[in-house]
Amino acid sequence: MDKVENLVAAAYKARERAYAPYSGYQVGAALLTASGRVYSGCNIENAAYGATVCAERVALFKAVSEGERKFTALAVATEGKEAASPCGTCRQVLWELAPELVLYLTGPDGVQRVTLEELLPRAFGPTHLREDCVHE
Ligand code: THU
Repeated sequence: MDKVENLVAAAYKARERAYAPYSGYQVGAALLTASGRVYSGCNIENAAYGATVCAERVALFKAVSEGERKFTALAVATEGKEAASPCGTCRQVLWELAPELVLYLTGPDGVQRVTLEELLPRAFGPTHLREDCVHE
């Protein structure tokens, strides 16, 4: 199995663990690190709807909290009419740490490859801030 297929399979597996009782829309994500590790995530909804977190951010936050900082690819899996595309908040959050990310969006029509830069052109990011504002 190649790298992309593997990542897509991990995203579908994570989707099975989605907690989405309000929307019924289940999403899975799988994030590949530069070192070859895969971190998965699913959407986790909340009765206070605004507290819901998307699958993409769950995967990223899990990885970052385990010490990861470099990411190369992200697969997102849904079974809706069309492939899910990360929401605006997720695009911004992904941009912070992985502006060169390649995404594989999967749905009934197969897998679509897209870059984060295509999804979030002219993004606001760390480079816009004064250097003395950025502490790593
Ligand atoms: N959702 C994701 O997890 N990722 C996406 O790319 C789009 C939306 C979730 C949030 C919410 O739980 C449900 O899908 C409906 O918006």
